[in-house]
Amino acid sequence: MLGDLQCKSPRLSATCYAPTNIALVKYWGKRNEQFNLPMTASLSLTLPDFGTTTTLKIIDTDHDQLILGSVALPPGDPMVQRISAFLDIFRPYTHHYYQIVTKNSLPIAAGLASSASGFAALTLALNQLYDWQLDQETLSMLARFGSGSACRSFWQGFVVWHRGIRRNGFDSKGSFFAPAWAELCLGLLVINAAPKLLSSRHAMQQTVKTSKLYQRWELQVAEDLVQMQQAILAKDFEILGTVAEANALTMHATMMSSRPPIVYSTSETWQFIECIWELRRQGIAIYFTQDAGPNIKLIFLESDLHTVIRHFPEIQIQRFK
Ligand code: PMV
Repeated sequence: MLGDLQCKSPRLSATCYAPTNIALVKYWGKRNEQFNLPMTASLSLTLPDFGTTTTLKIIDTDHDQLILGSVALPPGDPMVQRISAFLDIFRPYTHHYYQIVTKNSLPIAAGLASSASGFAALTLALNQLYDWQLDQETLSMLARFGSGSACRSFWQGFVVWHRGIRRNGFDSKGSFFAPAWAELCLGLLVINAAPKLLSSRHAMQQTVKTSKLYQRWELQVAEDLVQMQQAILAKDFEILGTVAEANALTMHATMMSSRPPIVYSTSETWQFIECIWELRRQGIAIYFTQDAGPNIKLIFLESDLHTVIRHFPEIQIQRFK
């Protein structure tokens, strides 16, 4: 299928934007490392205002050039190597190199889903550069080769990434599930923007290989997906928040049961979580989710916006109306 992509007369350059997405039912664990095929399905919410803009250009040099923000990264940088490996899938011939200029509205590699928007934007830029005119589902499937969570960044609202059963992964891609509710808010609390020490790829491998709780996690995801989809359709915020928070905590508990243990939370993460739980005890419906990093994402309704800003003045908020 990749061989069918026509790469004959590219444009001079292509610039595309892709939003990031935050999983409410997480993806944690691969059944195929090379194709980023997940052990389970997952479900996310797209954040339209937080994402990546990427310009892709064919250049006359002997290597790919990655410019992140305004900084040119050295060719040996792991991020350059990861992006080059992804581009290798599409290069029409070996000595065909690209300049990739990419700007993120989120810190990178800090568990803030920058790889999701990054690989989605790069896939969209390839599609435009070569005028492939691919549909969203095919783009989603291609972006998955760069980063699993990127396959959910091709739609607004709530998106499901289907696990798929085929060995080539052609059925493992995203699809639109439902529009975001106008009353919903998602807030990003950046506790530490430094890149994480352990990549999610390695952390997933270690969890799948060594955690005795991993099989339980797979069963939990199946239950959470059903409940989450029902909550979204019924617009039941309490169930949505409860399931999202429990799912994130179960993912972290599963990681912590790996050998050696994987811990992304810091004492500050826990202080924020305590604060969220205290507000809930006071009757404010506010929940959180957390990815592979110490940072927290708050889930709440617009009616509690002012309370949330008062307690977390540094929060960056995404609204959906
Ligand atoms: O797509 P990756 O390799 O960046 O992994 C993402 C993993 C989580 O963010 C923790 C969960 C998810 O579903 O996005």
